[in-house]
Amino acid sequence: MTKNIPASIIALDGPAASGKTTLGRRLADTLGYLFFDTGVMYRAITWIALQHDMDLRDEATITALAQKAQIDIRPPSKNDGRGCDVLIGDKDVTWDMRGDDVDANVSVVSAYSGVRQALSEQQRRIGLRGKVVMVGRDIGTVVLPEADIKVYLDASAEERAKRRYNEVTARGDKADYDEILKKMIERDHVDSTRAVAPLRPAEDAVIINSDKIDADKVFESVLELCK
Ligand code: DC
Repeated sequence: MTKNIPASIIALDGPAASGKTTLGRRLADTLGYLFFDTGVMYRAITWIALQHDMDLRDEATITALAQKAQIDIRPPSKNDGRGCDVLIGDKDVTWDMRGDDVDANVSVVSAYSGVRQALSEQQRRIGLRGKVVMVGRDIGTVVLPEADIKVYLDASAEERAKRRYNEVTARGDKADYDEILKKMIERDHVDSTRAVAPLRPAEDAVIINSDKIDADKVFESVLELCK
């Protein structure tokens, strides 16, 4: 039987700054779906750990933190480029979690199997409600392997570093392109070689390299897939 309804669970995976967030938000807006960037959960745990001077190499402590942390994701309350509000308790940490210190440490935290299990369970529960665009690294492979549509959005490290640089400077913050590129390559390496849920495309994912395709074309082709 052919399905005339649009895909209900859309999994969007790929490396940092490959354009997943821009694409995911646009898709979610167009389809009237929830946009859920799962990376914010790993960032939130890392941010809390840094705030409390926890030892990030202490897997048991960080895992316990992930199991009890109350992270709230809500629709954006400000029009400042955010896709959603990220709250820890009452505190809005949406931009704090995008800082260099979190960038430098989040890969370590997201490699811990207990952390991944705790956060993946929450992500899966939300994703299974349907009408959702889930963005991450392992949505199509681990969190929601039953997703209707799986897209793996890729781009070269240089192109992604350029985008991240533009994003940071557009907010009025200072940035160093070479440093961003170096950290991007390091993070790719940790994310794709970790033992649990490494960054890789699902076997049934549509792989799109956005180096030479503009964001509008990527959007149009993925929207077509969803319909
Ligand atoms: O997409 P991002 O840069 O905000 O992700 C932050 C980190 O979280 C990144 O190093 C990879 C990790 N992550 C993950 O391991 N699994 C996900 N589903 C989402 C993010």
